[in-house]
Amino acid sequence: MEPINLYPIGIIHTPHADVKNMPIQPVAAEGVRGWIELFPEYAEGLKDLEGFSHITLLYRFHKIEGYKLTVIPFMDTQERGIFSCKAPKRPNAIGLSTVKLVGIEGNRVHIEQVDMLDGTPLIDIKPFYPRYDNRIEGVKIGWLEKNKDLPLEALRSDERFK
Ligand SMILES: C[S@@+](CC[C@H](N)C(=O)[O-])C[C@H]1O[C@@H](n2cnc3c(N)ncnc32)[C@H](O)[C@@H]1O
Repeated sequence: MEPINLYPIGIIHTPHADVKNMPIQPVAAEGVRGWIELFPEYAEGLKDLEGFSHITLLYRFHKIEGYKLTVIPFMDTQERGIFSCKAPKRPNAIGLSTVKLVGIEGNRVHIEQVDMLDGTPLIDIKPFYPRYDNRIEGVKIGWLEKNKDLPLEALRSDERFK
């Protein structure tokens, strides 16, 4: 198939300079603030976003080189298929995080619960709407069942995908 060309629409700024010990999901990054520098040519697209408490970000794991189809995910000791986990070393290296929207100032979007590295290129922003995005019943969580009671503080990254 033809390649898909994606262009960053902005940069995500966070306090995470290195993957070591940073959160692996927004739920483990309560109170951790960052901000999006949306490139000025896209700023008009932020109109009406301010009324939402949460937004979903799509971005590129830009510090990842190559990919693997099986990995030992964070919080695990067994090899898993890349599509059965959220590990960053994946084809296309696309990340997805739903974060708190703190405020918007011009082309700056202030956010909280950031689980991406500083300087991460942003691909898209979407509003989070529970009725559409969080309404699935009868959910099964596969191999992650064993992790479901882990304290959130345990959801920390190491350097295994560097
Ligand atoms: C497990 S991924 C989950 C990210 C997102 N919530 C998801 O589900 O797609 C988060 C981890 O990816 C790594 N990471 C985050 N941003 C990155 C970037 N820009 N380049 C490379 N690795 C990154 C860090 O180890 C971080 O803890």
